[in-house]
Amino acid sequence: MKTYHLTIIGGGSTYTPGIVKSILDAHDVLPLRKLVLLDCDAERVARMGGFVRLLLAAHAPEVEVVVTTDREQAFSGMDFLFAQIRSGGLPMRALDEQIPLRHGVVGQETCGPGGFAFALRSIPDMIEIGRDLRRYAPDAWVLNYSNPAAILAELWRREFPDLKCLFICDMPIVIERLLAMTLGVEHADLAFDYVGLNHFGWWRHIWARDGRDVLPGLRARLLGGEKLKLFEDEHVNADWIPTFERLSKTLGYFPEFIPNTYLQYYFFGEEMVAESRPDYTRANRVMDTREKTVFAECDRCVAAGSVADSDLARGVHGDFIVDHVRALLGGAPLRTTVNVPNRGAVKGVPDEAIVEVHGLVSTHGVEAFAVGEVPHFQRALMVQQNAYEQLTVEAALENSYSKALQALTLNRTVPSADVARAILDDLIVANQGRWPVLERDIAG
Ligand code: G6P
Ligand code: MN
Repeated sequence: MKTYHLTIIGGGSTYTPGIVKSILDAHDVLPLRKLVLLDCDAERVARMGGFVRLLLAAHAPEVEVVVTTDREQAFSGMDFLFAQIRSGGLPMRALDEQIPLRHGVVGQETCGPGGFAFALRSIPDMIEIGRDLRRYAPDAWVLNYSNPAAILAELWRREFPDLKCLFICDMPIVIERLLAMTLGVEHADLAFDYVGLNHFGWWRHIWARDGRDVLPGLRARLLGGEKLKLFEDEHVNADWIPTFERLSKTLGYFPEFIPNTYLQYYFFGEEMVAESRPDYTRANRVMDTREKTVFAECDRCVAAGSVADSDLARGVHGDFIVDHVRALLGGAPLRTTVNVPNRGAVKGVPDEAIVEVHGLVSTHGVEAFAVGEVPHFQRALMVQQNAYEQLTVEAALENSYSKALQALTLNRTVPSADVARAILDDLIVANQGRWPVLERDIAG
Protein backbone atom coordinates (compact mmCIF):
# COMPACT_ATOMS: atom_id res chain seq x y z
CA MET A 1 0.00 0.00 0.00
CA LYS A 2 1.28 3.46 -0.84
CA THR A 3 2.15 5.50 2.22
CA TYR A 4 2.62 9.25 2.40
CA HIS A 5 5.01 11.84 3.73
CA LEU A 6 3.35 14.93 5.17
CA THR A 7 4.77 18.12 6.64
CA ILE A 8 2.99 20.71 8.75
CA ILE A 9 4.61 24.11 8.16
CA GLY A 10 3.93 26.02 11.35
CA GLY A 11 3.83 22.71 13.19
CA GLY A 12 4.06 24.51 16.54
CA SER A 13 0.55 25.92 16.07
CA THR A 14 -2.21 25.13 18.52
CA TYR A 15 -4.17 23.77 15.54
CA THR A 16 -1.67 20.94 15.07
CA PRO A 17 -3.24 18.42 17.50
CA GLY A 18 -6.65 18.70 15.83
CA ILE A 19 -5.17 18.37 12.37
CA VAL A 20 -3.09 15.34 13.37
CA LYS A 21 -6.15 13.69 14.90
CA SER A 22 -8.09 14.24 11.67
CA ILE A 23 -5.17 12.79 9.68
CA LEU A 24 -5.14 9.70 11.90
CA ASP A 25 -8.87 9.25 11.33
CA ALA A 26 -8.29 9.31 7.58
CA HIS A 27 -5.86 6.39 7.78
CA ASP A 28 -7.83 4.44 5.13
CA VAL A 29 -7.05 7.00 2.41
CA LEU A 30 -4.03 8.77 3.88
CA PRO A 31 -1.77 6.17 5.49
CA LEU A 32 1.29 8.06 6.70
CA ARG A 33 4.89 6.92 6.64
CA LYS A 34 6.39 10.16 7.89
CA LEU A 35 5.05 13.25 9.64
CA VAL A 36 7.24 16.34 9.91
CA LEU A 37 6.53 19.32 12.12
CA LEU A 38 8.42 22.36 10.86
CA ASP A 39 8.46 25.63 12.74
CA CYS A 40 10.75 28.62 13.07
CA ASP A 41 10.17 28.55 16.85
CA ALA A 42 12.24 25.61 18.10
CA GLU A 43 10.85 25.66 21.63
CA ARG A 44 7.20 25.75 20.62
CA VAL A 45 7.52 22.98 18.07
CA ALA A 46 9.49 20.85 20.54
CA ARG A 47 6.62 21.07 23.04
CA MET A 48 4.05 20.32 20.36
CA GLY A 49 6.30 17.58 18.97
CA GLY A 50 6.39 15.82 22.32
CA PHE A 51 2.60 15.59 22.28
CA VAL A 52 2.40 14.52 18.64
CA ARG A 53 5.01 11.79 19.15
CA LEU A 54 2.92 10.33 21.97
CA LEU A 55 -0.24 10.58 19.89
CA LEU A 56 1.34 8.69 17.01
CA ALA A 57 3.02 6.17 19.28
CA ALA A 58 -0.45 5.35 20.61
CA HIS A 59 -2.39 5.30 17.33
CA ALA A 60 0.08 4.87 14.45
CA PRO A 61 3.44 3.65 15.75
CA GLU A 62 4.63 2.90 12.22
CA VAL A 63 4.84 6.63 11.43
CA GLU A 64 8.21 8.36 11.73
CA VAL A 65 7.85 11.74 13.43
CA VAL A 66 10.39 14.47 12.72
CA VAL A 67 10.46 17.83 14.50
CA THR A 68 12.65 20.41 12.83
CA THR A 69 13.37 24.05 12.06
CA ASP A 70 15.09 23.18 8.78
CA ARG A 71 13.13 23.65 5.54
CA GLU A 72 15.29 21.41 3.38
CA GLN A 73 14.76 18.52 5.78
CA ALA A 74 11.06 19.31 6.11
CA PHE A 75 10.34 19.65 2.38
CA SER A 76 12.49 16.97 0.73
CA GLY A 77 10.47 13.99 -0.48
CA MET A 78 7.12 15.25 0.80
CA ASP A 79 3.79 14.39 -0.80
CA PHE A 80 1.70 16.92 1.13
CA LEU A 81 2.53 20.07 3.04
CA PHE A 82 -0.01 21.83 5.23
CA ALA A 83 0.95 25.48 5.69
CA GLN A 84 -0.36 27.34 8.72
CA ILE A 85 2.23 29.99 9.43
CA ARG A 86 1.66 33.06 11.58
CA SER A 87 4.52 35.42 10.81
CA GLY A 88 5.45 37.34 13.95
CA GLY A 89 3.29 35.12 16.14
CA LEU A 90 0.40 36.23 18.32
CA PRO A 91 2.32 39.13 19.92
CA MET A 92 2.55 40.79 16.50
CA ARG A 93 -1.10 39.93 15.83
CA ALA A 94 -1.90 41.90 18.96
CA LEU A 95 -0.13 44.96 17.51
CA ASP A 96 -1.89 44.48 14.15
CA GLU A 97 -5.19 44.70 16.00
CA GLN A 98 -4.26 47.38 18.52
CA ILE A 99 -2.61 49.98 16.27
CA PRO A 100 -5.64 50.59 13.98
CA LEU A 101 -7.92 50.72 17.03
CA ARG A 102 -5.84 53.58 18.42
CA HIS A 103 -6.84 55.46 15.26
CA GLY A 104 -10.49 54.53 15.63
CA VAL A 105 -10.29 51.89 12.88
CA VAL A 106 -11.23 48.20 13.02
CA GLY A 107 -8.44 46.11 14.52
CA GLN A 108 -8.72 42.63 13.05
CA GLU A 109 -6.32 39.86 12.11
CA THR A 110 -7.26 39.59 8.41
CA CYS A 111 -9.52 42.58 7.67
CA GLY A 112 -8.44 46.21 7.35
CA PRO A 113 -5.00 47.53 8.37
CA GLY A 114 -4.42 44.55 10.71
CA GLY A 115 -4.69 42.14 7.80
CA PHE A 116 -2.50 44.42 5.72
CA ALA A 117 0.22 44.41 8.39
CA PHE A 118 -0.03 40.64 8.73
CA ALA A 119 0.26 40.29 4.93
CA LEU A 120 3.40 42.39 4.76
CA ARG A 121 5.05 40.17 7.36
CA SER A 122 3.84 36.95 5.78
CA ILE A 123 4.77 37.71 2.18
CA PRO A 124 8.56 37.50 2.68
CA ASP A 125 8.13 34.24 4.62
CA MET A 126 5.84 32.76 1.97
CA ILE A 127 8.33 33.70 -0.74
CA GLU A 128 11.07 31.81 1.10
CA ILE A 129 8.76 28.84 1.56
CA GLY A 130 7.76 28.88 -2.12
CA ARG A 131 11.37 29.06 -3.29
CA ASP A 132 12.37 26.12 -1.10
CA LEU A 133 9.33 24.12 -2.21
CA ARG A 134 10.43 24.66 -5.78
CA ARG A 135 13.87 23.28 -4.87
CA TYR A 136 12.91 20.40 -2.59
CA ALA A 137 9.29 19.39 -3.30
CA PRO A 138 8.20 20.81 -6.67
CA ASP A 139 5.51 18.16 -7.22
CA ALA A 140 3.99 18.16 -3.75
CA TRP A 141 0.51 19.44 -2.93
CA VAL A 142 0.46 22.37 -0.54
CA LEU A 143 -2.71 23.04 1.43
CA ASN A 144 -2.63 26.48 2.96
CA TYR A 145 -4.55 27.77 5.95
CA SER A 146 -2.16 30.72 6.54
CA ASN A 147 -3.73 34.15 6.56
CA PRO A 148 -4.51 36.56 5.11
CA ALA A 149 -5.43 33.85 2.62
CA ALA A 150 -6.69 36.08 -0.19
CA ILE A 151 -3.49 38.11 -0.27
CA LEU A 152 -1.22 35.08 0.02
CA ALA A 153 -3.14 33.41 -2.80
CA GLU A 154 -2.57 36.54 -4.89
CA LEU A 155 1.15 36.36 -4.11
CA TRP A 156 1.18 32.67 -5.07
CA ARG A 157 -0.60 33.38 -8.37
CA ARG A 158 2.11 35.86 -9.27
CA GLU A 159 5.22 34.13 -7.94
CA PHE A 160 4.60 30.38 -7.86
CA PRO A 161 2.06 29.41 -10.55
CA ASP A 162 4.08 26.21 -11.13
CA LEU A 163 3.51 24.94 -7.56
CA LYS A 164 0.26 23.21 -6.56
CA CYS A 165 -1.36 25.02 -3.67
CA LEU A 166 -4.94 25.09 -2.39
CA PHE A 167 -5.90 28.12 -0.30
CA ILE A 168 -8.38 26.90 2.26
CA CYS A 169 -10.61 28.73 4.71
CA ASP A 170 -12.80 27.01 7.26
CA MET A 171 -15.19 29.93 7.77
CA PRO A 172 -17.53 29.15 4.84
CA ILE A 173 -17.82 25.50 5.83
CA VAL A 174 -18.47 26.43 9.46
CA ILE A 175 -21.20 28.88 8.42
CA GLU A 176 -22.68 26.38 5.95
CA ARG A 177 -22.89 23.81 8.73
CA LEU A 178 -24.66 26.32 10.96
CA LEU A 179 -27.08 27.19 8.15
CA ALA A 180 -27.76 23.49 7.56
CA MET A 181 -28.37 22.91 11.26
CA THR A 182 -30.74 25.88 11.42
CA LEU A 183 -32.59 24.41 8.44
CA GLY A 184 -32.70 21.06 10.21
CA VAL A 185 -30.99 19.36 7.26
CA GLU A 186 -27.70 17.47 6.93
CA HIS A 187 -24.98 19.62 5.35
CA ALA A 188 -24.37 16.83 2.83
CA ASP A 189 -27.98 17.11 1.66
CA LEU A 190 -27.54 20.73 0.59
CA ALA A 191 -25.66 22.38 -2.29
CA PHE A 192 -24.49 25.93 -1.66
CA ASP A 193 -23.73 28.74 -4.06
CA TYR A 194 -21.23 31.32 -2.74
CA VAL A 195 -19.54 34.30 -4.36
CA GLY A 196 -16.93 36.70 -3.09
CA LEU A 197 -13.33 36.89 -1.98
CA ASN A 198 -11.86 35.17 1.08
CA HIS A 199 -13.46 36.53 4.29
CA PHE A 200 -15.61 38.71 2.01
CA GLY A 201 -18.58 37.07 0.34
CA TRP A 202 -22.19 35.94 0.18
CA TRP A 203 -24.37 32.86 -0.28
CA ARG A 204 -26.82 33.37 -3.14
CA HIS A 205 -28.57 29.99 -3.06
CA ILE A 206 -28.94 26.91 -0.92
CA TRP A 207 -30.39 24.03 -2.87
CA ALA A 208 -32.07 21.07 -1.22
CA ARG A 209 -31.93 17.56 -2.74
CA ASP A 210 -35.23 18.12 -4.52
CA GLY A 211 -33.81 21.18 -6.30
CA ARG A 212 -35.68 23.75 -4.23
CA ASP A 213 -33.78 26.88 -3.17
CA VAL A 214 -34.26 26.93 0.59
CA LEU A 215 -32.41 30.23 1.10
CA PRO A 216 -35.49 32.48 0.83
CA GLY A 217 -37.27 30.54 3.57
CA LEU A 218 -34.20 30.64 5.82
CA ARG A 219 -33.79 34.36 5.18
CA ALA A 220 -37.38 35.01 6.23
CA ARG A 221 -36.82 33.09 9.46
CA LEU A 222 -33.56 34.93 10.28
CA LEU A 223 -35.12 38.30 9.47
CA GLY A 224 -38.06 37.33 11.65
CA GLY A 225 -35.69 37.18 14.63
CA GLU A 226 -34.84 33.49 14.72
CA LYS A 227 -31.23 32.88 15.73
CA LEU A 228 -28.73 30.71 13.89
CA LYS A 229 -28.39 27.34 15.58
CA LEU A 230 -24.85 26.89 16.87
CA PHE A 231 -22.77 23.79 17.57
CA GLU A 232 -19.66 23.77 19.77
CA ASP A 233 -16.42 24.13 17.86
CA GLU A 234 -13.17 26.07 18.02
CA HIS A 235 -14.77 28.93 16.11
CA VAL A 236 -18.29 28.50 17.35
CA ASN A 237 -18.20 29.27 21.05
CA ALA A 238 -19.19 32.03 23.46
CA ASP A 239 -16.54 34.40 22.05
CA TRP A 240 -18.02 34.13 18.59
CA ILE A 241 -21.70 34.57 19.44
CA PRO A 242 -21.80 38.34 18.73
CA THR A 243 -20.28 37.64 15.30
CA PHE A 244 -22.92 35.07 14.41
CA GLU A 245 -25.67 37.30 15.77
CA ARG A 246 -24.46 40.24 13.69
CA LEU A 247 -24.89 38.10 10.57
CA SER A 248 -28.60 38.76 10.94
CA LYS A 249 -27.99 42.50 11.16
CA THR A 250 -25.98 42.44 7.92
CA LEU A 251 -28.73 40.37 6.32
CA GLY A 252 -31.30 42.90 7.51
CA TYR A 253 -29.49 45.73 5.75
CA PHE A 254 -28.72 43.77 2.57
CA PRO A 255 -31.25 40.93 2.46
CA GLU A 256 -30.47 39.74 -1.04
CA PHE A 257 -27.82 37.20 0.00
CA ILE A 258 -26.63 35.58 3.24
CA PRO A 259 -23.36 37.29 4.26
CA ASN A 260 -20.07 35.86 5.43
CA THR A 261 -19.63 36.97 9.05
CA TYR A 262 -16.39 38.81 8.17
CA LEU A 263 -18.42 41.49 6.34
CA GLN A 264 -19.27 42.94 9.75
CA TYR A 265 -15.85 44.62 9.80
CA TYR A 266 -16.51 46.40 6.51
CA PHE A 267 -20.11 47.48 7.09
CA PHE A 268 -20.18 48.23 10.82
CA GLY A 269 -16.72 49.64 11.54
CA GLU A 270 -17.79 52.09 14.26
CA GLU A 271 -19.75 49.40 16.06
CA MET A 272 -16.81 46.96 15.87
CA VAL A 273 -14.43 49.62 17.20
CA ALA A 274 -16.83 50.50 20.02
CA GLU A 275 -16.94 46.84 21.04
CA SER A 276 -13.14 46.49 21.00
CA ARG A 277 -10.53 47.38 23.59
CA PRO A 278 -7.29 48.73 22.11
CA ASP A 279 -5.35 47.26 25.04
CA TYR A 280 -6.93 43.80 24.89
CA THR A 281 -7.89 42.42 21.49
CA ARG A 282 -8.74 39.00 20.10
CA ALA A 283 -5.01 38.17 19.98
CA ASN A 284 -4.72 38.81 23.72
CA ARG A 285 -7.75 36.66 24.32
CA VAL A 286 -6.27 33.83 22.22
CA MET A 287 -2.94 34.11 24.07
CA ASP A 288 -4.78 33.89 27.40
CA THR A 289 -6.96 30.94 26.38
CA ARG A 290 -6.15 28.62 23.45
CA GLU A 291 -2.38 29.17 23.65
CA LYS A 292 -2.26 28.44 27.36
CA THR A 293 -4.66 25.49 27.44
CA VAL A 294 -3.22 23.68 24.42
CA PHE A 295 0.40 23.97 25.48
CA ALA A 296 -0.41 23.15 29.11
CA GLU A 297 -2.12 20.01 27.85
CA CYS A 298 0.86 19.10 25.64
CA ASP A 299 3.20 19.52 28.62
CA ARG A 300 0.90 17.52 30.89
CA CYS A 301 0.74 14.61 28.44
CA VAL A 302 4.50 14.64 27.90
CA ALA A 303 5.09 14.61 31.67
CA ALA A 304 2.61 11.74 32.05
CA GLY A 305 4.08 9.95 29.04
CA SER A 306 0.59 9.32 27.69
CA VAL A 307 -2.16 10.91 25.61
CA ALA A 308 -4.68 8.32 26.78
CA ASP A 309 -6.90 10.80 28.60
CA SER A 310 -6.15 13.84 26.44
CA ASP A 311 -9.10 15.91 25.31
CA LEU A 312 -7.40 18.17 22.73
CA ALA A 313 -10.37 18.48 20.44
CA ARG A 314 -10.82 17.49 16.87
CA GLY A 315 -13.05 19.72 14.86
CA VAL A 316 -14.15 21.15 11.53
CA HIS A 317 -10.74 22.82 11.01
CA GLY A 318 -8.71 19.58 10.90
CA ASP A 319 -11.38 17.48 9.24
CA PHE A 320 -11.86 20.05 6.48
CA ILE A 321 -8.22 20.16 5.35
CA VAL A 322 -8.04 16.35 5.43
CA ASP A 323 -11.25 16.19 3.34
CA HIS A 324 -9.30 18.05 0.63
CA VAL A 325 -6.51 15.46 0.73
CA ARG A 326 -9.08 12.68 0.48
CA ALA A 327 -10.45 14.26 -2.71
CA LEU A 328 -6.98 14.90 -4.16
CA LEU A 329 -6.14 11.24 -3.58
CA GLY A 330 -9.10 9.98 -5.57
CA GLY A 331 -11.92 9.93 -3.06
CA ALA A 332 -15.26 11.43 -4.08
CA PRO A 333 -14.72 14.93 -5.52
CA LEU A 334 -15.22 17.53 -2.78
CA ARG A 335 -17.72 20.28 -3.52
CA THR A 336 -16.53 23.23 -1.47
CA THR A 337 -15.49 26.87 -1.56
CA VAL A 338 -12.19 27.35 -3.41
CA ASN A 339 -9.91 30.37 -3.74
CA VAL A 340 -8.75 30.60 -7.33
CA PRO A 341 -8.02 33.17 -10.06
CA ASN A 342 -11.37 34.36 -11.39
CA ARG A 343 -10.76 33.70 -15.09
CA GLY A 344 -14.28 34.81 -15.99
CA ALA A 345 -16.14 32.94 -13.25
CA VAL A 346 -17.56 36.19 -11.82
CA LYS A 347 -18.55 38.70 -14.47
CA GLY A 348 -17.16 42.22 -14.05
CA VAL A 349 -14.37 41.13 -11.68
CA PRO A 350 -10.79 41.05 -13.09
CA ASP A 351 -9.72 37.73 -14.55
CA GLU A 352 -6.69 37.54 -12.28
CA ALA A 353 -8.55 38.40 -9.04
CA ILE A 354 -8.51 35.58 -6.49
CA VAL A 355 -12.20 34.84 -5.92
CA GLU A 356 -13.86 32.52 -3.42
CA VAL A 357 -16.59 30.49 -5.08
CA HIS A 358 -17.79 26.93 -5.00
CA GLY A 359 -15.95 24.38 -7.04
CA LEU A 360 -14.74 20.81 -7.08
CA VAL A 361 -11.51 19.47 -5.62
CA SER A 362 -10.52 16.16 -7.16
CA THR A 363 -7.49 14.19 -8.40
CA HIS A 364 -6.73 16.83 -10.99
CA GLY A 365 -6.90 19.78 -8.64
CA VAL A 366 -9.52 22.50 -8.55
CA GLU A 367 -12.30 23.51 -10.90
CA ALA A 368 -14.32 26.59 -10.00
CA PHE A 369 -18.00 26.87 -10.89
CA ALA A 370 -19.04 29.83 -13.01
CA VAL A 371 -21.07 32.39 -11.12
CA GLY A 372 -21.92 34.85 -13.88
CA GLU A 373 -23.46 38.21 -13.07
CA VAL A 374 -23.53 39.64 -9.57
CA PRO A 375 -25.40 42.83 -8.61
CA HIS A 376 -23.63 46.22 -8.57
CA PHE A 377 -23.24 46.33 -4.80
CA GLN A 378 -21.44 43.02 -4.34
CA ARG A 379 -19.46 43.32 -7.57
CA ALA A 380 -18.19 46.81 -6.74
CA LEU A 381 -17.20 45.72 -3.24
CA MET A 382 -15.31 42.75 -4.66
CA VAL A 383 -13.47 44.85 -7.24
CA GLN A 384 -12.46 47.41 -4.63
CA GLN A 385 -11.34 44.80 -2.12
CA ASN A 386 -9.39 42.90 -4.77
CA ALA A 387 -7.60 46.12 -5.82
CA TYR A 388 -6.64 46.57 -2.15
CA GLU A 389 -5.30 42.99 -2.10
CA GLN A 390 -3.30 43.42 -5.31
CA LEU A 391 -1.86 46.74 -4.14
CA THR A 392 -0.81 45.11 -0.88
CA VAL A 393 1.13 42.43 -2.75
CA GLU A 394 2.65 45.06 -5.06
CA ALA A 395 3.64 47.27 -2.11
CA ALA A 396 5.55 44.33 -0.63
CA LEU A 397 7.14 43.12 -3.89
CA GLU A 398 8.06 46.63 -5.08
CA ASN A 399 8.98 48.07 -1.65
CA SER A 400 6.53 50.86 -2.39
CA TYR A 401 5.23 53.20 0.30
CA SER A 402 2.83 54.83 -2.16
CA LYS A 403 1.25 51.50 -3.07
CA ALA A 404 0.93 50.67 0.62
CA LEU A 405 -0.83 53.99 1.16
CA GLN A 406 -3.11 53.36 -1.81
CA ALA A 407 -3.95 49.90 -0.50
CA LEU A 408 -4.93 51.16 2.94
CA THR A 409 -6.85 54.14 1.52
CA LEU A 410 -8.81 51.76 -0.67
CA ASN A 411 -9.69 49.45 2.20
CA ARG A 412 -13.29 50.07 3.25
CA THR A 413 -12.44 50.00 6.96
CA VAL A 414 -10.25 53.12 6.61
CA PRO A 415 -12.13 56.46 6.47
CA SER A 416 -9.52 58.72 4.82
CA ALA A 417 -6.06 58.95 3.29
CA ASP A 418 -4.89 60.85 6.37
CA VAL A 419 -5.96 58.05 8.68
CA ALA A 420 -4.44 55.51 6.25
CA ARG A 421 -1.14 57.36 6.39
CA ALA A 422 -1.09 57.71 10.17
CA ILE A 423 -1.79 53.98 10.62
CA LEU A 424 0.75 53.03 7.96
CA ASP A 425 3.48 55.07 9.65
CA ASP A 426 2.74 53.47 13.02
CA LEU A 427 2.71 49.98 11.46
CA ILE A 428 6.07 50.61 9.79
CA VAL A 429 7.62 51.40 13.17
CA ALA A 430 6.01 48.38 14.84
CA ASN A 431 7.11 46.04 12.04
CA GLN A 432 10.69 47.19 11.64
CA GLY A 433 12.86 44.26 10.58
CA ARG A 434 9.76 42.16 9.82
CA TRP A 435 8.33 43.99 6.80
CA PRO A 436 9.91 44.66 3.44
CA VAL A 437 11.39 48.17 3.65
CA LEU A 438 8.93 50.60 2.02
CA GLU A 439 10.74 53.29 0.02
CA ARG A 440 9.28 56.78 0.51
CA ASP A 441 8.31 57.28 -3.11
CA ILE A 442 5.97 60.21 -2.37
CA ALA A 443 6.57 63.57 -0.73
CA GLY A 444 6.35 64.09 3.04
C1 G6P B 1 -11.67 31.44 11.31
C2 G6P B 1 -11.09 31.93 10.02
C3 G6P B 1 -9.59 31.86 10.09
C4 G6P B 1 -9.11 32.66 11.26
C5 G6P B 1 -9.75 32.19 12.55
C6 G6P B 1 -9.36 33.12 13.69
O1 G6P B 1 -11.41 30.09 11.45
O2 G6P B 1 -11.51 31.22 8.90
O3 G6P B 1 -9.06 32.35 8.89
O4 G6P B 1 -7.71 32.59 11.39
O5 G6P B 1 -11.13 32.17 12.42
O6 G6P B 1 -9.63 32.54 14.89
P1 G6P B 1 -9.04 33.03 16.27
O7 G6P B 1 -9.66 32.12 17.25
O8 G6P B 1 -7.54 32.90 16.18
O9 G6P B 1 -9.45 34.45 16.43
MN1 MN C 1 -10.26 31.91 7.12
